[in-house]
Amino acid sequence: MSVEFDPCAALAPLVDDGWLDTILYEVKSGKEATVFCCRGGSRSPVPLVAAKVYRPLESRRFKNDAMYIGGRVHMARAGRVKRAVEAKSSFGRSVQYGTWIAHEWEVMNVLHDAGASVPQPLALAEQAILMPFLGDESAAAPPLHAVQLDPEAAGAVLDELLWNIELMLDLDCVHGDLSPYNILLDGDRPVVIDFPQAIDPRLNRNGHALFCRDVENVCRWAEKHGVQRSAGRIAAELWQRFVMGELG
Ligand SMILES: Nc1ncnc2c1ncn2[C@@H]1O[C@H](COP(=O)(O)OP(=O)(O)OP(=O)(O)O)[C@@H](O)[C@H]1O
Ligand SMILES: [Mg+2]
Repeated sequence: MSVEFDPCAALAPLVDDGWLDTILYEVKSGKEATVFCCRGGSRSPVPLVAAKVYRPLESRRFKNDAMYIGGRVHMARAGRVKRAVEAKSSFGRSVQYGTWIAHEWEVMNVLHDAGASVPQPLALAEQAILMPFLGDESAAAPPLHAVQLDPEAAGAVLDELLWNIELMLDLDCVHGDLSPYNILLDGDRPVVIDFPQAIDPRLNRNGHALFCRDVENVCRWAEKHGVQRSAGRIAAELWQRFVMGELG
């Protein structure tokens, strides 16, 4: 059975609630979601709103790598749910997929409240998350992979990203898919997006590997812009402080 992807229907409750006025244009259709630039409604604190609309479950190309599953179990609080997820029953799978969007919402709230450079989550609907739009009416802020920076500017961006990675780790959160594709440059400020796969490194046995990969990805980006930093040393030092409870 295929379910039609109908972004207008998905966004209708947010229009009714005054968060959204009109869809201006589609920004990008990604693996799990399509992002739209919209004019905010009377309730929106910002004039332009990004609406991330998730695809229906069966047509998504999930980041469903087993690597991510462990750290998401903590979202499932009730015993039946936890057992079903662990047993990989169809109920468990539907719980996991159904909470994918709720997980992104929760992670964004925790990180934003703690002062991380992530968009402020504004509203949640069954299939969509709203946040301030980074960019303007003609284009979205560019992802890091699309910008050319001199070494000094790239070094400042890298420092900001490493500070954010450290803050997230202190909040028991590893992004898990951090790359120049999931970081937007808003003026000179890097903003991290796209959190459905974020994991709790205390609960996911791949937490350390995912953390190291995130650090390597941002250091490799910086290296291309003339900034030499040892990803291995930085990751090892941060992880050691995390394990010893010395972050923060
Ligand atoms: N707040 C925002 N403001 C402006 N553009 C945004 C915003 N959030 C997301 N985008 C744009 O939408 C794209 C997709 O967003 P996101 O990465 O969250 O979704 P995704 O479905 O996981 O996509 P992908 O599979 O490409 O990673 C981003 O690369 C970016 O270009
Ligand atoms: Mg993305």
